Amino acid sequence: MYYPEELVEEVRLKNDIVDVISSYVKLQKKGSSYFGLCPFHNEKSPSFSVSRQKQMFYCFGCGAGGNVFTFLMEYENYSFVEALRVLADRAGVELPKMEYSREAQEKAEQRTVLLEINKLAAKYFYAQLKSEQGRNAYTYLKNRRLSDATITSFGLGYSNKYSDDLYRYLKMKGYSDEMLLKAGLISADEKHGAYDKFWNRVMFPIMDANNRVIGFGGRVMGDGKPKYLNSPETPVFDKSRNLYGLHRARTSRKPYFIICEGYMDVIALHQAGFTNAVASLGTALTAGHASLIKRYVNEVYLTYDSDEAGTKAALRAAPILKSVGITAKVIRMDPFKDPDEFIKNLGADAFEERIHKARNGFLFGLEMLERDFDMASPEGKTAFMREAAARLTEFDEEIERSNYIEAVARTYGVSSEELRKLVVKTAVRTGLVKPVERPKPAVNRNKGKEDGVLKSQRLLLTWMIDDENIFRQIRNIIGPEDFREPLYHTVAKLLYQQYEAGNVNPAQIMNHFTDEEEHRRVAELFHTRLPEVSTIQEKEKALKETLLRIKQHSLDEAMRCLNPADIDGLKKLMADKRSLQHMKELHISVN
Ligand code: CTP
Ligand code: MN
Repeated sequence: MYYPEELVEEVRLKNDIVDVISSYVKLQKKGSSYFGLCPFHNEKSPSFSVSRQKQMFYCFGCGAGGNVFTFLMEYENYSFVEALRVLADRAGVELPKMEYSREAQEKAEQRTVLLEINKLAAKYFYAQLKSEQGRNAYTYLKNRRLSDATITSFGLGYSNKYSDDLYRYLKMKGYSDEMLLKAGLISADEKHGAYDKFWNRVMFPIMDANNRVIGFGGRVMGDGKPKYLNSPETPVFDKSRNLYGLHRARTSRKPYFIICEGYMDVIALHQAGFTNAVASLGTALTAGHASLIKRYVNEVYLTYDSDEAGTKAALRAAPILKSVGITAKVIRMDPFKDPDEFIKNLGADAFEERIHKARNGFLFGLEMLERDFDMASPEGKTAFMREAAARLTEFDEEIERSNYIEAVARTYGVSSEELRKLVVKTAVRTGLVKPVERPKPAVNRNKGKEDGVLKSQRLLLTWMIDDENIFRQIRNIIGPEDFREPLYHTVAKLLYQQYEAGNVNPAQIMNHFTDEEEHRRVAELFHTRLPEVSTIQEKEKALKETLLRIKQHSLDEAMRCLNPADIDGLKKLMADKRSLQHMKELHISVN
């Protein structure tokens, strides 16, 4: 199902790109464009430009570019439809209800019902906690040093001692057994019939990023087993794509997240002012979690339990995070078990101090590795350094590897030159050096070697949208078919149509492409730097050379592709070749 093109265009027109991007990036007006620091790569001086006239953004540093939709897709990791909805909402444009297939419609309805059930259950558990029957649970939470405000803001609750009171409550609200089972709050068997899954536990509702209750964790108040019982995965509860505490952490406005293991750790951290803490839901950190986190921050601090399992979990999480471009540092909690106990004993300031002392994930990994070697003996230490060298070969980027070699050499008191040699030797022996992977934008950064004629095509397109006068003079000499590169050809065709219709609108052209990479390329071709010329004569000369190069290339290509039996085609080509001679004498005026 697609939204009609006119509607997409209406939404775009009602969201001025400068206004939208201004709420993410600080922009300053410079000439006819706005400039700021690019949010898609690290830079110190602004090369990120936003044009109100073109309704596009383009980064001269990394090549990121597009229209207002592309910006949200890249910045917020939205799909096109998500970006469209957000912008429609922002501008007060009402989108028609999507005509879902029957199956999709049923699925959507089912999700709505499951969310309702979870929400009702959360309210029910909360009411129980506040009632007479919940007194023990309330005391339990108080003994764990939670304030009333914390209890309320995390919506904590209590599932009481009756085995089916939640079931009866939800039935009374009109929900079917089938849906209650699907929601994971009820179990049923032949012997007992339907009964509540959670019984006499303190309840932790789990919220998604949009504050909707999607599941629960329930803790025994004492030493019973299992310590925590969790909702099973359901159509609304995907453990590998949600994090406990994310609904609050995402608005904490800190540049990093603190990732811990448990519900209580998250709550204790938030209560102590670390409102950027999240936990994975009783599972190891997955790639799904990592890309979820990447929507919000580029850096995390892992503060897992001090035991062996927590240490292993941190070591496993670091590379998963790194693979999506998140830097991980490790905070140790010793001599305490976890952040909750650490803060209870030493307070928030001491935790803050540990944040500052956090070790980076790689060095932490080496420190753990030390335990497998006898570091006091020369043999032991040598063997350890060999293993360290093997790990160092895994850095793809030269600079990064080199920085780590320095750091490891410093930490273990060996010469960095010696270590570097060892790393190279190891890499050669094991064939471990991976080819250098370049970040996505770099593909476009390689402008120096690029085909000159492509550049000419881009240059002319940029010229044509900047100056209608130029278009008028050349439209009979050069047509869309002369732009041989397929994407440029489509763009040129649309631009000629817009000119003929008297309505030039480059950002609308982008609506014809759905792929972010295509948006980037369209933005790029409308932002070609025009040659630096000081006189009108020079500009005219540059323009003419550009025209000739494009035309010449177009004719060469046509000749190359010509079917030898096509006599008419050949005649036309010869005529075109002659007119190319005329073109050389033609005068085009710019002003
Ligand atoms: N967990 C779970 N099921 C269990 C034990 C643990 O799902 N049987 C998950 C919970 O999300 C829990 C996390 O793993 O919060 C960490 O477990 P653990 O360290 O044992 O618990 P704590 O969070 O320290 O809990 P508490 O402080 O309440 O003892
Ligand atoms: Mn704990």
